[in-house]
Amino acid sequence: MTIEKLVAELGIAEAPEYWQTHWAEYQDWKSSGGCGVEPGEIVGDAYQVFDLPRECIPQVEDVCAVIRANPVLTELAGLWHYLLFHMPDTRALGEDVLASPVGILGERAPLFHVAVLVSDTEDALQAFRMIGVSDQIALDSLMQCGSQLVDYHQRCGVYGMKYLGWMRNYFNAKMFRLGRLVFNSNTYTWGFHVYRNKTTGELKTLLAAGNKYRTDGLADGCNGILDPDAWTSEMEVVGRNARGNPVVPDARADRETVTLDLAVWEPIITPGDSMIEIHIPPASSGGRMAWEECAASYREALDFFPIHYPELNFSAFTCWSWLLDPSLSKILPPESNIVKFQSPFHLLPVCSNDAQCYDLVFGDGAAVSTVTPKTSLQRAIVDYVCAGNRMRGAAGFITMEEMDALVR
Ligand SMILES: CC(C)(COP(=O)(O)OP(=O)(O)OC[C@H]1O[C@@H](n2cnc3c(N)ncnc32)[C@H](O)[C@@H]1OP(=O)(O)O)[C@@H](O)C(=O)NCCC(=O)NCCS
Repeated sequence: MTIEKLVAELGIAEAPEYWQTHWAEYQDWKSSGGCGVEPGEIVGDAYQVFDLPRECIPQVEDVCAVIRANPVLTELAGLWHYLLFHMPDTRALGEDVLASPVGILGERAPLFHVAVLVSDTEDALQAFRMIGVSDQIALDSLMQCGSQLVDYHQRCGVYGMKYLGWMRNYFNAKMFRLGRLVFNSNTYTWGFHVYRNKTTGELKTLLAAGNKYRTDGLADGCNGILDPDAWTSEMEVVGRNARGNPVVPDARADRETVTLDLAVWEPIITPGDSMIEIHIPPASSGGRMAWEECAASYREALDFFPIHYPELNFSAFTCWSWLLDPSLSKILPPESNIVKFQSPFHLLPVCSNDAQCYDLVFGDGAAVSTVTPKTSLQRAIVDYVCAGNRMRGAAGFITMEEMDALVR
């Protein structure tokens, strides 16, 4: 089948650029025998490896049968299988690249992702073995796929999967579940420079130059709000001084610049450094997020990353999430797990919005003005928002030194 025919049969206007770029190599891979798995086939141990809920199995088998019987779906499933498990370029794939074939599959469409998922396990497990990671950690990590299905079911009422392109980071052994939390290595690219006072150990974060902030100290455009009086951050290192706008508490930017004497302040986090990113699996796959469990995960990560990435010198743990919204520590009691999770982070003002918070607290697309809150967090958010406030996401970091002192 040609890519033009595939696109026409799927009823979409145009093939995503990624399909076009990789179509020829996919066809070559297929004609040289592929990996021996036919699209729509379910690999024997896939349900266990990805920890899929048993109740979804008849539905997955049903959609796989539909795929095998339809040449267009067979071609699409084959292409996705190649992109996810065999393509040499290992970057995460965007949602546009893996948009379900709704036109053909109708209400079964969210299961198409799952059908492609269950077509391979060996390549995913092999990716972990190649970097010396145990099968146990591989299985703990890959079970995030099953957790996605459970989560999707809870939020949408049917089985399906979103973010399969992001889950590719698991198949490629880039994301590791170590106890309660998930981690991956990444390069720090955020617009913040962190300095440490050589004598007192105090940290100061300066904004990179050239970003716009509102007069309330939040990133211009945060929650879609642009400020006509927005100001632009400055940052320069001249001689023995670094001058710039600091980050102040509540994850806000300060318009007043400060000057740091570099004989006293040393840079400890700068763009290009290596970071350990933190991700938080939902309660459906890990239960509540007790601090002791997070601390145990951090301890594991402190040991794991230097072993498996000996060439990297990590500067910090980082996270970007609705869970780091500083408002949460004002509206939740101090004993809340979210507040305890947030507390050791140095919070940073990033351009974000309230969508992730609403999706993960009230369900996809729920309107805060009409929901009936069931948990104390839902009640607290509804009250906070009805009083005229907005939720947001924030980024944060914990230096390696701080993490070591915190959990060892
Ligand atoms: C992370 C998570 C496990 C924390 O839950 P937790 O350990 O119960 O957190 P807390 O102790 O702070 O909870 C305090 C209250 O808020 C409720 N709550 C916490 N997270 C909630 C959520 N996502 N939706 C609704 N209510 C929530 C709790 O049930 C508890 O309510 P209660 O007092 O009525 O019993 C939970 O928020 C979750 O599953 N989130 C989805 C995954 C996620 O957000 N990942 C990060 C993506 S960047």
